[in-house]
Amino acid sequence: MARHLITSAIPYINGIKHLGNLVGSQLPADLFARYQRGRGHEVLFLCATDEHGTPAELAAAKAGKPVAEYCAEMHETQAEIARGFRLSFDHFGRSSSPQNHRLTQAFAARLDEAGLIEERVETQIYSKADGRYLPDRYIEGTCPNCGFESARGDQCDNCTKQLDPIDLIEPRSVISGSTDLEPRETKHLYLRQSKMRGELSDWIDSKTDWPVLTTSIARKWLNDGDGLQDRGITRDLDWGIPVRKGDAEWPGMEGKVFYVWFDAPIEYIACAQEWVDAGKGEDWERWWRTDKGADDVRYTQFMGKDNVPFHTLSFPATILGSGEPWKLVDYIKSFNYLNYDGGQFSTSRGRGVFMDQALEVLPADYWRWWLLSHAPESSDAEFTWENFQQSVNKDLADVLGNFVSRVTKFCRSKFGEEVPAGGAHGDRELALIADLERRVRAYEGHMDAIEVRKAAAELRAIWVAGNEYLQDAAPWASFKTDPEAAAMQIRLALNLIRLYAVLSAPFIPDASAQLMEAMKTDDDAWPGDVAEALSVLSVGHGFAVPDVTFRKITDEERADWHARFAGIRS
Ligand code: MF3
Ligand code: ZN
Repeated sequence: MARHLITSAIPYINGIKHLGNLVGSQLPADLFARYQRGRGHEVLFLCATDEHGTPAELAAAKAGKPVAEYCAEMHETQAEIARGFRLSFDHFGRSSSPQNHRLTQAFAARLDEAGLIEERVETQIYSKADGRYLPDRYIEGTCPNCGFESARGDQCDNCTKQLDPIDLIEPRSVISGSTDLEPRETKHLYLRQSKMRGELSDWIDSKTDWPVLTTSIARKWLNDGDGLQDRGITRDLDWGIPVRKGDAEWPGMEGKVFYVWFDAPIEYIACAQEWVDAGKGEDWERWWRTDKGADDVRYTQFMGKDNVPFHTLSFPATILGSGEPWKLVDYIKSFNYLNYDGGQFSTSRGRGVFMDQALEVLPADYWRWWLLSHAPESSDAEFTWENFQQSVNKDLADVLGNFVSRVTKFCRSKFGEEVPAGGAHGDRELALIADLERRVRAYEGHMDAIEVRKAAAELRAIWVAGNEYLQDAAPWASFKTDPEAAAMQIRLALNLIRLYAVLSAPFIPDASAQLMEAMKTDDDAWPGDVAEALSVLSVGHGFAVPDVTFRKITDEERADWHARFAGIRS
C-alpha cells in the first residue's frame, strides 16, 4: 500500500469561488484522492482557506465585519459548498489557525538562522488620513505600464504586470480615497531566495516527469530572474501572523505581519497538524517529516497556472532554506484557465457561474462530470451551456443512466429483482470482457498519470462498451427464443453496473453510491481481473431498480440558465 499526500491550492477566503477556480485545483485533487483511496492506498487529502492579506481585510470591511469574524463565517460557507461538491478533504483547515501561526514563525526563525533573511529599509506609501501604510491592494492608481486607471498596488488587472505601490501614478487610498499620501521609510524582512537559485534550478531539472506547463513556468521565472529576486515576506498590516522569530520578539518588526504568500503554503503542513488536533488523525509527522517516515510518501499538489511560481520556487525555497527534513512535493499538476461563454470567469466582476449557484441548478455530479471531462489541461477550455447540456444528456443520461435503467427494469419484469442464472458466457461476452480489460488498465494508467481528460474519455468508452454490448446482445429479443441466454446477458449487465459504480466513483461519487445501493452491495474493491469483477454479484443476489440516475437538461432550462447567468453577480 502506497501513501499519498495530496493538497489543493488553498482558496482565498474572500468570496465564493467560481467553477474555473474549482476545476483548476480542488476538483481534480479530489478526483485523484478518491481514485487513490479506491485503489486501496492510504491518502491524506488537505485543503484550507487562505485567510490573510489585503483581499481578506478589504472584503471584511466591505461586509462591515471585523476581519476575524468575516473569515470564520466565510470559512464555514466555503466548507459547506465543498461538502456540496463532495470534495473529500480529510481536513479543511484555516491559514489563520494557531498551528499555522506557530509554524510560520518557526520557519522564519530557521531561515534567519540560515542567513537567508535580510532586514531592509524601504519606502512604502503612508496615508495620513488613514493613519497607516497602504500595501498591495490598499492602494490604487494609474498603471505606469498601460495607463489603466484602477491598477492595484500589487498588480495591474488590465495588463497583469506585477507592481509596487510606489510605482503607481496618481495613487489614492482604497480605504478613504485620500490622495494625501507620502512615501515613508519602513523596515521589512526579505527572503534571500536568489541565494538558492542553483539548488532550486537543480531540483526543477530533476523533475523530468512533470507536466510541461509546470516546468516551463518555473524555468521562465528562474531564468528571467523575476521570480527569484529576493522577496519581501512582511507587511504593515494588522491582520495576519505577527512577525516573530519562533517564540521570541523580532526587534524592529513590532506591529508587522508576514506576507500572505509566505504563510499560505506553510498551511499545507499546519493543516495536517490541525487534522490531528481535531482528532481525525494520529500522526502528522509521518506525512511531512522525512525523518519520521514521510520518505515513502508521494506528495502531489494541484493548482492553477498562476500559482505555479509560488509552488515551484517560493515554497520550496522556504522548505529547503529551513535546512530541516520537510517533505518536498513530488509532482505538481497545474491547470490552464476555464473561460465562460466567450469571456473570462471573473470574481471581481462577478462573471460566470459560482460554486453556490451551480449547486442550486443541478447536483454536484453533473458539474463534476462536465468540469473534469473538459479540464483545461493542455490549453484553456470554455464552458458553454450548449456544451454542458450536450455532455450531460449524452454521457450521463443516454449512456450511463440509460444502461442502468434498461438493465434493471428489464430484469425486474422478466426475472424479478434478483440476479438471474443462465449459462456460461459466450463469445460476445468474452470479447466484451477482453475489451474492458484493456480499457480498465488504460483508465488506471491515465488516472495514475493524472491525465484527467483522457481518464474521463476512457471511462466514457467503458460505459459505451456496455451499451453497445447490450444493444448487440438484445436480451429483450433473445428472451423470446432463448431465455437462458437472456438471463446470462442480464447477469453480466447487472455486474457491469456494479463495476461502473466502482470505476466511476472518483468522478461522480453520488451516482456511484446510488448504484452500489441499488445493487445491494458494498463490495467496492477495485477490479483486478475484469472477468472476476464481473462475477461479484452471484445468481440470486437481490437488487433494486434505482431512481433516475441522471436526468436530461431540456432546451428550455438551458436557455433559462444561459440568460440567468449572462449578467453580473453583485
Ligand atoms: N489563495 C491562492 C489562490 O487562490 C492560493 C494559495 S496556495 C498556497 O490563488 F500555496 F499558498 F497555499
Ligand atoms: Zn497595466
